[in-house]
Amino acid sequence: MFMRIDRLQVEMPVPKDPDPTAAAAVQELMGGRFGEMSTLMNYMFQSMNFRNKEKLKPYYALISNICTEELGHVELIAATVNGCLSGVGSTGDITQGDAGFAHMKEAGLLGQFINFGAQAMPTDSRGEGWHGSYVFNSGNLILDLLHNFFLENGARTAKLRVYQMTDNPAARQMLGYLFTRGGVHAHAYALALEKLTGVEMRKMLPIPAVEDIQLPESRKFMEEGWHRRLYRFSPGDYKDIAEIWTGNHMDGQPLEVVDGPPQGGDMNDYEGISEAFTPEYHPEEIFEMAQKLYKQAGGV
Ligand SMILES: [Fe+2]
Repeated sequence: MFMRIDRLQVEMPVPKDPDPTAAAAVQELMGGRFGEMSTLMNYMFQSMNFRNKEKLKPYYALISNICTEELGHVELIAATVNGCLSGVGSTGDITQGDAGFAHMKEAGLLGQFINFGAQAMPTDSRGEGWHGSYVFNSGNLILDLLHNFFLENGARTAKLRVYQMTDNPAARQMLGYLFTRGGVHAHAYALALEKLTGVEMRKMLPIPAVEDIQLPESRKFMEEGWHRRLYRFSPGDYKDIAEIWTGNHMDGQPLEVVDGPPQGGDMNDYEGISEAFTPEYHPEEIFEMAQKLYKQAGGV
C-alpha cells in the first residue's frame, strides 16, 4: 500500500511567466514512451507480478522502492506543467472580442488544452494518451532489469532533449533534478544486473555520454550528493536494497541508502485560470454557495 505526503520531492520554483511551449515539451516526460508514467507503471506491474519475492528479495525491494520514487516524479512533472501554465490566458476580455487564450496555439498541444483546460494530463507532447503497452514485464528477472536499464537511459535521453528545447529556468531546475535521479536508477539497475550476471553494466554509463555535472542545474544536486543516494520510501520495508546499492559511485564516493524520503519542498498552489474555467467559480463563490445550500438544508 502507499502512504502519501503532501510535499514535492524537491523544491520546485514557481515559473515567473507563463510558458505554454515549455509545458507542452515537458508533457513528453509525463506520458511519452520514456516519461514518468512509464517508469512508474513498469515498476508498479513488475513489483506486483513479482514471484519468489523471498528468494529474490533485494531485486523485488529495488523495483518496488524505485516505483514509489517514480510516483513523486509524476507529481513533479505535473507541478512543472501547471507552473508553466500558471497565468496563461489572463490577457484581454472576451466580451470585447479578445482571444485571451490565443498564445496557447503556439504550444502545439491544442486538443489537450481545449478539452482539459491548461493543466497536466497523462499524455505526451502531442496530447496523445499514455499507453499501457509501454509496460514491459516478461517475468524473466534479467530481461526485466535489462528493460529497466534501457528505460532509465531512454528517459535520461528524453530529459536531455527537453532541456535542449526549453530554457525556462523552473522547468530546467526540475529537469536537472530528474536527470540526476534517473542516473541513480540506471546505476541501480546496472548494479542489479551485475550481481545477477557478472556483466559490468556500469561501464556503459552514462548514456547518453553526458555527465550530470555538465548540466548547471544538476551540478547543485550532485554537490549535495543526490547522485549517490537511494532513498528508502517505506517506514520499515525494502531494507534489502542496501544489498544492491552498495560500494562506490563512479566518482569514487560511497553509495548511500537513506532511510525515508527526502525532505522535499512545499506543494505549489497556483491561481485558477478563468479562460480555462478552472475552477469555473472563484473559491469564495463556491464557499458562499455551499453555505446557502447548507442553510436551505436546515443547517445553522
Ligand atoms: Fe523518474
